[in-house]
Amino acid sequence: MPIATTIKTVWPDAVALSHAVANLIVTESNKAIQQKGYFTIALSGGGTPKLLFELLAQAPYKNNIPWKKVIIAFGDERFVAPTSDESNYKMANEALLKHVGIPKKNILIVPTVKVTPAQSASQYETALKKYISNKHPFDLVLLGIGEEGHTASIFPGSPLLTDKKNWIKNIWVVEKNMDRISFTMPFINHAKNIAFLVSGASKAAILKKIFSKPGATLPAAMVKAKENTFWFLDEAAKIGH
Ligand code: 6PG
Repeated sequence: MPIATTIKTVWPDAVALSHAVANLIVTESNKAIQQKGYFTIALSGGGTPKLLFELLAQAPYKNNIPWKKVIIAFGDERFVAPTSDESNYKMANEALLKHVGIPKKNILIVPTVKVTPAQSASQYETALKKYISNKHPFDLVLLGIGEEGHTASIFPGSPLLTDKKNWIKNIWVVEKNMDRISFTMPFINHAKNIAFLVSGASKAAILKKIFSKPGATLPAAMVKAKENTFWFLDEAAKIGH
């Protein structure tokens, strides 16, 4: 049984951080495809991963990942149309997915049209079960953090922190005044590997808290992959701790 480890690395800036994560994805995707024939990755939302996605869409990364055997999912989604500028899918599609030859059926989009948030969560969970099981957890889940310690759409005090019944849950996020569809914390921690991407001075204060004792109950501090939990930080985010 592998020992769960936390690996924290600090990079000069967001570009270097994104190259480091892109290299991890090349390594893990080829390893998974060799072992079981496909690679499963859940993309994070928000703005930080955009640079990473743009790098993955060009050489050398584009040519070093067997995209036809990659299964793409989303760690969380805003309950908006896929054409909305708020949509995590839209950003990932424009920065990465439409530039690399991933079969459409391999992109597990969170349904947000003509369904209720509860139906969306249930349908998305069913779709994930085609590739994810206890035997085959997510090979890699990408996450970001918010300034108050949220990750995915799990905010401090969220019922998703302890929801062991669902992999995916719909939740009204009062802080964002919108419905979100998100991995629950137990499902996030079901992953083989997790990589946080944390960039910019605005994240320095929350990072300091997360890595301090009292921060232990913040959602991002409760994340622990079965094998490796990677923290990719840039210098600006690291300052202060
Ligand atoms: C979302 C994300 C969210 C994000 C953090 C950081 O849908 O917004 O899943 O958890 O990762 O809020 O966002 P930034 O990268 O924009 O700072």
